[in-house]
Amino acid sequence: MAARFYLTTAIDYVNGPPHLGHAYEKITADAIARYKRLSGFDTWFVIGNDEHSQNVYRLAKEQGLDPLAYCDRMEGEYRAVWKLLDISYDDFIRTTQPRHRASVQELVRRIAAGGDVYEGFYEGWYCVGCEAFKQEKDLVDGKCPLHSTVDWIKEKNHFFRLSKYRDPLLAHIAAHPEFIEPEARRNEILKLLESGLDDISISRAGQAWGIPVPHDPSSVVYVWFDALINYASAVGFGTDEAVFARWWPAELHVIGKDITRFHTVIWPAMLMSAGLALPRQVFGHGFMSVDGQRMSKSLGNVVDPAAAVAKVGVDPLRLYLIKEVTYGGDGDFSWARLQERYNVDFANNLGNLVSRVAAMAEKYRGGRLAPAEAPGRLATVAAKALEDYRAAMDRLALEEGAAAAFRIVDAGNEYIAETEPWALARDEKNAARLSQVLFDVAEALRVAAVLLLPLIPGSAAEILRRVGETTAADRIRLDSATWRNEGERTIGKGANLWPRIERTIVTDQPVNPTPAPPASAAASTSATASGDKTAVTPAAAPDNRITIDDFLKVDLRVAKVLTAEKVPNSRKLMKLSIDVGTEQRTLVAGIAEAYEPEQLVGKTVGIVFNLKPAKLMGIESNGMILAASPEGGKPVLVAFDGDIAPGSRIR
Ligand code: MSP
Repeated sequence: MAARFYLTTAIDYVNGPPHLGHAYEKITADAIARYKRLSGFDTWFVIGNDEHSQNVYRLAKEQGLDPLAYCDRMEGEYRAVWKLLDISYDDFIRTTQPRHRASVQELVRRIAAGGDVYEGFYEGWYCVGCEAFKQEKDLVDGKCPLHSTVDWIKEKNHFFRLSKYRDPLLAHIAAHPEFIEPEARRNEILKLLESGLDDISISRAGQAWGIPVPHDPSSVVYVWFDALINYASAVGFGTDEAVFARWWPAELHVIGKDITRFHTVIWPAMLMSAGLALPRQVFGHGFMSVDGQRMSKSLGNVVDPAAAVAKVGVDPLRLYLIKEVTYGGDGDFSWARLQERYNVDFANNLGNLVSRVAAMAEKYRGGRLAPAEAPGRLATVAAKALEDYRAAMDRLALEEGAAAAFRIVDAGNEYIAETEPWALARDEKNAARLSQVLFDVAEALRVAAVLLLPLIPGSAAEILRRVGETTAADRIRLDSATWRNEGERTIGKGANLWPRIERTIVTDQPVNPTPAPPASAAASTSATASGDKTAVTPAAAPDNRITIDDFLKVDLRVAKVLTAEKVPNSRKLMKLSIDVGTEQRTLVAGIAEAYEPEQLVGKTVGIVFNLKPAKLMGIESNGMILAASPEGGKPVLVAFDGDIAPGSRIR
């Protein structure tokens, strides 16, 4: 029986659509899942949504929706993006599902039965953005460094004896250092454990949204305690013991570095308390930033993965994220770099090799290639690349795995330049040599494509089809990446898969409205789907009308002015601090000639929420206030016809 491999990603909060940071996690985990399948493991890959956060409840209420109906809608949005990105998940867990609720209640019951839950009183800070209890030492100037605000809460809570698990956790990490990867994350956690652990609150009192604590239905299970259990509930804990026995423990939890503590301290302690086995490994990947700034919904600087797919296609985006960033380290997203990598890796290297193999096979051998003698040096290059690839992928160095596969592609192009098939073709006595050269290059491309299957699945499958592979891509195994100097291959032709993108792709230009290619035909980027290069970088519109998609890129929201002061040495500028529902922000607006600060405090205004920050008179402004500016007159703020909560969207 094949060895099993159960892997998961973090489940996402649904207080907004997925951004490129979430996509980075799902794409890299998908590459691992696909690599494990390729290596013959019986693999189970689970992703999902974390729905019991207070922000979700508030957002749903603001939109006049039942929270569950809101979550249903978000599930659709998330699944659509994961489909576009070719994420091959086997199951999608939601924390509002009955199977999860049953599982959470069973785990809490077990932990309580073991004596690890007691009733107490919590008085302290809570950050809704992080959904975390905060200590003074976690705050900067009395605020959460990520979400600005914290609430002081006082309530009866149920506590988990986390402190009891400090020594067992230290012992586990000492015996299994691979439990936390990469090493930097392990060291952070070891430092934290060495400084001691406090018990934690695992319930919230008086909340309407969540899973009731089994022995106290007036409280709900704290959202993180609830969410972590998804890894067990997704494989039947408390609902289907046979399934649970088959898949638990998980081999790998892929998560972002910001939530390592939850996964490597609280989660294993919960499992120890309940007498369950611990996952083999937690891998904390780094963060995607834009212009060096952490990408996050609350900072309003998120990149929409669908926009990137519309520009370059799904696989170029996947490869860019996998190959450019050392897995475990941080990465900075740049449109210019995405375009550059597309042109180098796809248009030049891979695209060139695919079209040259097809053209030469057709021209010199009528589209059919067979070996005629012993293989040349490409066979050695491919064997070494396969070895490096395996070693890299096995230790989750995804970028090195990608680089190893591309070494074969590069060598294939070099080999053509070196052997000059067109010159060999001039003399009939070179016939066997020419056959072998052409076969070798096609075989090198086949091997490279097998290695690329987990990384750029649609494109690799298309390349395999073109080099005459008859096995369906999902049935191909890694052992088929060994060199085969045998058999006749029919080389298929087709459109150029990745035309160069000459014109700069710019984010704030309209995104190509052509529908994105289906995941299975991922090799055809949006550029080639229409056969028209300009589809990637649309030419100027004949008039200045925009599509609804363009409009929806502008995130307009309601905000409330908390403080206002004129900016010194400026006639026009006013510095405002505003409440945008999820956080407090600073914004600089050119309205000082029209309004006095006192007139503004307490006012409800409209803002552009997702504008990149800009510095005005040395002050960083996050957003833009909506005002009408009559010719030659003073600006007049846009107002609302009724009471409306900060953070509400304007459409
Ligand atoms: N709901 C919790 C996770 C619970 S898991 C039991 C949560 N959700 S989240 O939506 O905020 O984040 C989901 C995942 O995306 C996390 O692993 C997080 O680290 C990751 N990322 C969020 N922003 C990111 C970047 N800018 N870059 C890379 N990963 C990012 O936390």
